[in-house]
Formats: sequence, C-alpha cells, structure tokens
Amino acid sequence: MIKSVEFITSAPDVAQCVEHHLPEYAFIGRSNVGKSSLINMLCHKPIAKTSQKPGKTLLINHFLIDGRWYLIDLPGYGYAKAGKTQREKLRRMIERYCLLREPLVSLFVLIDSRLEPQAIDLEFMEWLGENEQPFAIVFTKTDKLTNTQLATNIERYKATLLETWEELPPIFLTSAEKKTGEQQLLDYIGSINESLKTDKTGR
Ligand code: GTP
Ligand code: MG
Repeated sequence: MIKSVEFITSAPDVAQCVEHHLPEYAFIGRSNVGKSSLINMLCHKPIAKTSQKPGKTLLINHFLIDGRWYLIDLPGYGYAKAGKTQREKLRRMIERYCLLREPLVSLFVLIDSRLEPQAIDLEFMEWLGENEQPFAIVFTKTDKLTNTQLATNIERYKATLLETWEELPPIFLTSAEKKTGEQQLLDYIGSINESLKTDKTGR
C-alpha cells in the first residue's frame, strides 16, 4: 500500500515538468475512462479531481509516491466535446510527454472494460509501440460487468491486440468502485523499480 503522496507540480508541457532521477509512471486513457478515480484508489486519497464531466485534467500532474517514484496523471485524449483545437493541443502535449520525458518508465493505458476495442485506444498503443515506449493496459470499471461479461470482453480485447501485436502487454483488471487491482498494480511498479535499482548497482 502507498504510504505517502506528495503533490509536486502541474505542468502545461513536458518542458515544464520537474527534474528528478526517480522512475515515473503515467496514467493515460480516453477522457472519462476513470483515470482520476484509479489514481485516488491507489493513493487512498482524493488527490486527482474526478467528475461526471469529462475533460477535467488538462495538465501533467506529478505526484511523488513514498519518496521513491512519480505517478503522473495525464489529460484524457480524444474528448469529442473539447473541440478540435483543444483536442489537438492535448494530443501534442501527450505525445511530447511520451517521447521526450526521460524519467518515464512505463505508461498505463486505461481502457473501459465495458466497451469493445476502440480505434482511438488501439491507435494510441500502436503509436507507443512504434516509438518503443513500454506500456501496460489497465481495464477500468470492471464492477459494472458480470464476471462472464468481463471475461468475454477481455478475451475479445486480447484477440484484437493479437491481430497487430506479437505479444500482449501486461494487463490489469481494476475497479475504483470495488477497490480491486490495487495490489497487482503496485506490485508491478515495485518490481520494475527494483529491477531499475539492480540495473544501476548490480553489476
Ligand atoms: P477526465 O479526467 O475528465 O478525463 O476523466 P477520468 O478518466 O479522470 O475519469 P474519472 O475518474 O473522473 O471518472 C469518470 C466517471 O467514471 C466518474 O463518474 C466516476 O465516478 C466513474 N468511475 C470511475 N472509475 C469507476 C469504477 O471503477 N467503477 C464505477 N462504477 N465507476 C467509475
Ligand atoms: Mg481525470
């Protein structure tokens, strides 16, 4: 469980992100997918703004976790009502962050477990692949489905991914409502942090 969360900064662009030497993990997905809710579940604190209205997060929000790693709340992509200019601006900001952010270790791409695979998410993950940016998939809102529906949707998603990917990324199932998936996500981040430590010191 996360013990301490410190809000560090909100940056309008990667150029304004804080300099540090800790691993950074960013949460991203379509607007309203449940990013802020998931982050709040992980932190056991309402640190990220949640709302019924999509498009709330417009900045790159940095949180220092247990003094060991950074959690980044990125804006949602593809929010239709945001207008074309705003959407384009956010897309560029997100892409710049993904390409240029040195401490970034992995992204967590959030996917609404209720929906069939959406082009916008698949294309974003393909773009990450082309740019060699590691990511994991986090399915959200699993409490809104029965176990059978959930299993069907996850299998369908995997099958779709395997049409373009040779290997599946790590996949996590979460519900901010039921508070599930927390330990798996934190274990995964913890294991990467450990391996980064040995990379530096373990030779
Ligand atoms: P933006 O920052 O606006 O792009 O949205 P977001 O991705 O941060 O989503 P947010 O966490 O604000 O959640 C959007 C809506 O989905 C809210 O009404 C949440 O209460 C709801 N929600 C989020 N996660 C879950 C979940 O696990 N289960 C259920 N049932 N509802 C959820
Ligand atoms: Mg949000």
